Amino acid sequence: MSSASPAPSRLTDAIDLADSKHAWHPFTQMKEYQANPRLHLVRGEGSWLIDSDGRRYLDGNASVWTNVHGHNDPDLNAALEKQLHQLAHVTLLGLNHPVATELAEELAGLTNGLLPRCFFTDNGSNAVEVALKLSFQFWQLTGRPEKRGVISMSGAYHGDTFGTMSVGDNRTFHKRFSPWLFPSQMFEAPRHEECAGKIKFSDATQSLQALENILKSQASQTASLILEPRVQGAAGMHQQPAGFIKAVAQLCQQYDVHLILDEVFTGFGRLGSLTACTEEGVAPDFLCLAKGLAAGYLPLAATLTSEKIYEAFQGEFSEGRTFFHGHTFSGNPLGCAVALASLKKLRPMISSGQIAERAQQLGDEIQKNFSDHPNIASYRQYGLTGAVDFKPADTSAKSWTVDMRVGYQIALAARRHGLVIRPLGDSILFVPPISIQSSEVTHLVQAVRRAMDDVIPNL
Ligand SMILES: Cc1ncc(COP(=O)(O)O)c(C=O)c1O
Repeated sequence: MSSASPAPSRLTDAIDLADSKHAWHPFTQMKEYQANPRLHLVRGEGSWLIDSDGRRYLDGNASVWTNVHGHNDPDLNAALEKQLHQLAHVTLLGLNHPVATELAEELAGLTNGLLPRCFFTDNGSNAVEVALKLSFQFWQLTGRPEKRGVISMSGAYHGDTFGTMSVGDNRTFHKRFSPWLFPSQMFEAPRHEECAGKIKFSDATQSLQALENILKSQASQTASLILEPRVQGAAGMHQQPAGFIKAVAQLCQQYDVHLILDEVFTGFGRLGSLTACTEEGVAPDFLCLAKGLAAGYLPLAATLTSEKIYEAFQGEFSEGRTFFHGHTFSGNPLGCAVALASLKKLRPMISSGQIAERAQQLGDEIQKNFSDHPNIASYRQYGLTGAVDFKPADTSAKSWTVDMRVGYQIALAARRHGLVIRPLGDSILFVPPISIQSSEVTHLVQAVRRAMDDVIPNL
């Protein structure tokens, strides 16, 4: 709930000053950041964040799409504390700790044992890098080194490292680095129309046909195809129809190309189940997990793969089959302990229908607040993801420019209504904690509506 603005405390002034002198925030134009009021978040309680002046904000982007059980959850805190008193960190490079083993075994269960091998890392980009590199090396080790290309889908976002940028859609985020990126092929995502929040897919067939055309001519030189199943988050929560991933998987199998599913965003309750691929009845060759894996508490990621891939890397040391990749904090024990506690809590939330209910409510609230509004171009929801795209009411009038920063202005205004949320261009993305309560879903959507009403008439 928003409260009347108290005067900034001395603590806030001190943090402000130091932040203005020393910080450089990720994905942030610092000139703009310096010119606007800063928010220093000092505490979390459930779905809420509390700033240095005691104001409360609903965490509308789940702390960059990671938060599963809310902040400061007693069960996760207890699991973390228990592990802390045993071992905070040890490397997995040639050594082991039992929490990693236990978690790897749990994660194998996500795909009913089809992907029993677990390679731990520490963030989503690295989980994807590992899948890309494992696939690349597999084909070399099995005598087909010419298979090294990668196919991805328009709108793709797989991270900010060079490998992941190379397979991402080359837009605002990555274009500048294009001379350093390796070439990859891209096929068009299924096109759709949005009508009253419902998605009508006009041509998944066309998208699949475009993919098959690429495969027909290039499969012999292609290692893998990568995509985010069901919902492409960073593209603006763009959806694919049910059955699409299965059709893609069949094509990959037919043309002998590895399928990498990037569930860094879609896993762990975000779309209502533990993974979108099992929901869709698809077993990829690689499954990338991060974000919600450790419930938004700690950086932890995993790349799951099959015994067949794993077997190809076995041999004498001199054969050079070893996968030479690893990060200092890969499979950190604290992260693994929290991930195990999180999975235990998450399963009943899924089976009881709680998440499905909140997802339905999110869709209903978005529809109630944004349908038939002259400033809304489109809106959509799937699972606990959603987006609204704003537009000028009079489309014949001068259109909005990038520097008007409409989405950003609305996100800033939302703070006055007790919400932190992130924009994407002229859109706002809804990504609440998976454990969000019913009254909080209402607050989330209403706060964006109020912020929109504050900002747009004054543009
Ligand atoms: C689908 C997907 N893959 C990979 C990443 C990269 O994850 P990280 O930011 O942890 O490197 C993201 C981040 O948003 C993502 O949404």
